[in-house]
Amino acid sequence: MSFKAYVFDAYGTLFDVHAAVRKHAESLGPAGRQLSEIWRAKQLEYSWIRTLMGSYTDFWRLTEEALDYALAVVPGIDPSFRDPLLEAYWTLDCYPEVPDMLARLRESGASTAILSNGSTDMLDAAVQSAELSGLFDAVLSVDAIKMFKTAPQVYQMVTDTFDLQPSEISFQSSNRWDIAGAHKFGFETVWINRAGLPDEYLNYGPGRVIADLTAL
Ligand code: LAC
Repeated sequence: MSFKAYVFDAYGTLFDVHAAVRKHAESLGPAGRQLSEIWRAKQLEYSWIRTLMGSYTDFWRLTEEALDYALAVVPGIDPSFRDPLLEAYWTLDCYPEVPDMLARLRESGASTAILSNGSTDMLDAAVQSAELSGLFDAVLSVDAIKMFKTAPQVYQMVTDTFDLQPSEISFQSSNRWDIAGAHKFGFETVWINRAGLPDEYLNYGPGRVIADLTAL
């Protein structure tokens, strides 16, 4: 089945959020993995709590605050890793299948876009450093509406931008909670279950589950 537009979550879906810690894995030692998990979990928690409180701060600031928490709570990590880790997060790798997959979709005549919690600046930097410039019709940041996923207004940015019905859009995310929000809004959803996690948010998608974006 083909769709008029294919929209992608950024962090975890196109860009590997654990690549920042992996870049410094040897120096960080065994606690690096725990640091990466807590960094990501806190970054997301802050986005949800701030949306519920109605108190937006951009995702880069939340990424910094989450790393500060992770560095404070995980024992045995030198705090001087803060700047190199943030630098690595600014220029994350994309997953290897991403460039060809995007080129293929565009050749088929479909539109492609990113819809992300990321700030405009961090998304621009990530797209550029992963050499994905020119492969998207739109890079949509929640900065424009100052609310994070899973607020329905975020998903509505896509239908407003492309002037399409939600059912004409295929939404891809590795984050199961994001798939739930997108399904509730009415998108067709594809969960990129890279980690082989069990399903959750029952009754809220996904339409399809694939292990990586090659199978899209
Ligand atoms: C995003 C995060 C939530 O890119 O992965 O929106």
